[in-house]
Amino acid sequence: MERREVSFRIYRYNPQVDRHPFYDNFKVAAERGITVLRVLNHIKENLEPRLTFRAYCQAGICGSCAVRVNGVSKLACTTQVWDELAESGDEPILLEPLNNLEVIRDLLVDIDPLLEKLKSNSSWLTSSIPEQQMGHKEHIVSETEFEVIDSASDCILCASCYSECSMMGVNRRYISPPVLLKAFRMNNDTRETLAGERLKQVTADHGLWDCTHCYRCVEHCCKKIPIMDGIHRLREEAFERRMSGSEGARHAQVFFDDIRDNGRLKEMTLPLRTKGVAGSLAMIPLALKMAIKMRTPPLFTKKIPGIKRVRELYLRLEKLNAERQSS
Ligand code: SF4
Ligand code: SF4
Ligand code: FES
Repeated sequence: MERREVSFRIYRYNPQVDRHPFYDNFKVAAERGITVLRVLNHIKENLEPRLTFRAYCQAGICGSCAVRVNGVSKLACTTQVWDELAESGDEPILLEPLNNLEVIRDLLVDIDPLLEKLKSNSSWLTSSIPEQQMGHKEHIVSETEFEVIDSASDCILCASCYSECSMMGVNRRYISPPVLLKAFRMNNDTRETLAGERLKQVTADHGLWDCTHCYRCVEHCCKKIPIMDGIHRLREEAFERRMSGSEGARHAQVFFDDIRDNGRLKEMTLPLRTKGVAGSLAMIPLALKMAIKMRTPPLFTKKIPGIKRVRELYLRLEKLNAERQSS
């Protein structure tokens, strides 16, 4: 069995005694096939008993051991040290807590904000079976019906996507990818009765419409779940249910309308149509700054070659979508 000494650089911080976070270095004799979690356990048992991290199942099921390994959020129990050596070269393997959550101690983060968001967005199934029939009557979900939510059901709430989400990095109140994924999963379960209510919750401020489509959540999901497919479906659902009240929804609708009507965006009037008169007035200082830097969109737009084709494509897609929904 191939074996070598591997260096680890681990984030340490105990807010009760440390003024600032620092990094500790450890050397561990590791063999090929060992995981990052095995190394953490070894360090805790033999070298530094105060090292704090969270882990239970050790099998990629419970979602509790996510940390950042060489800067990327991953499950410690399924991440191979040998794979990370290829990443870090001669440098020590870097272990740090997840981003976008407060550190309780060392690699342990407080996941309460994620749990609160799950609670406030009804991330559970509200079955159509009356309570008195629960346990007496089966509610069968067919294979085809389950296929729609199969992949989303694999989410183990490890918070890796929460840590990697670019919107979470700028706004901690953002609903977050796992909560949107749960909303998609519940709303598309054939037993569910709360879909409309949940959709209202997820489309509120700091919700569904604030996603920037950066796809970082998809790239870093430890279960390879196509999270964005769920987010797109929720947006379609919001349009189908005509939930266009929020600013984000109006913004998206204006984009649709402009492409359908003109084949291109009318950026000058975008704030007025999205934010209304009061919201646009509040943007005057920003508009002035943009004008000084000559970054304002042109008053009159030039015709672009091929614009007719863009419109045709849009109308064709709209027709196909309508046919798909009616079939
Ligand atoms: S695509 Fe949306 S939810 Fe996913 S990481 Fe980017 S901003 Fe976050
Ligand atoms: S969507 Fe993926 S990365 Fe995000 S919490 Fe669920 S399993 Fe973890
Ligand atoms: S310890 Fe359960 S997923 Fe890693």
